[in-house]
Amino acid sequence: NTIKAIRSRLLDWYDQNARSLPWRPASPTSAPIPPYYTLVSEAMLQQTQVATVIPYFHRFLETFPTLETLANADEQQVLTLWQGLGYYRRARNLHACAKTIITEHNGIIPSDIDSLLALPGIGQYTAGAIASIAFNQPAPILDGNVIRILSRIFFITDPTDHTPVKKQLWLLADQLVPAPVSTDFRPGDYNQSMMELGALICSPRNPKCDTCPIQKLCKAYADGSPESLPVTLPK
Ligand code: ADE
Repeated sequence: NTIKAIRSRLLDWYDQNARSLPWRPASPTSAPIPPYYTLVSEAMLQQTQVATVIPYFHRFLETFPTLETLANADEQQVLTLWQGLGYYRRARNLHACAKTIITEHNGIIPSDIDSLLALPGIGQYTAGAIASIAFNQPAPILDGNVIRILSRIFFITDPTDHTPVKKQLWLLADQLVPAPVSTDFRPGDYNQSMMELGALICSPRNPKCDTCPIQKLCKAYADGSPESLPVTLPK
């Protein structure tokens, strides 16, 4: 079963190769990370690289250690801490999220996709990331990294921004997330293993197929042209 093999190889690889990042537990046995940290990190990571985010994440949590301190902050202070990260709408949305969670969810970050989607600035991807990473919900994620990996593994040569192809990709992402019955029911780690593979191995140019944990399951590798995928519609 290809799906199971992909999932278990990625999880094993993640256990050995995941970068140690401030929004991840130091080891599988350490205390879980507060969902608030996931909310903040995913907002920062929406359009910014990991290396840039790290110092901002530390400063942000020093200033606003809890959801409540963030909700009570004035917007200017939030924007000042965001200075240099760009896309300031993300900061305003994150601030608005904190306020909404205080007033509408008793200060508890919701764990279900629909409630997360109703929050300011949270779309399908971020909702899936928070639900899976912070709450172990089997929610799929699909972003540029995941699209690249899936189009290569399954040799999807049609334009990935075409609606039916996007639907096919969401379906694959959904089938790949470990289900609750599975022995490797670690949806948050699984989703982060895809992010990690996209960042460290399955890059747009010069993918490091020699060290890829799913090389022998990858149809684009077998075809000899992983770099040519994904294909997008001409503008
Ligand atoms: N990009 C978005 N979310 C991420 C995460 N949790 N870890 C690494 N990169 C990410």
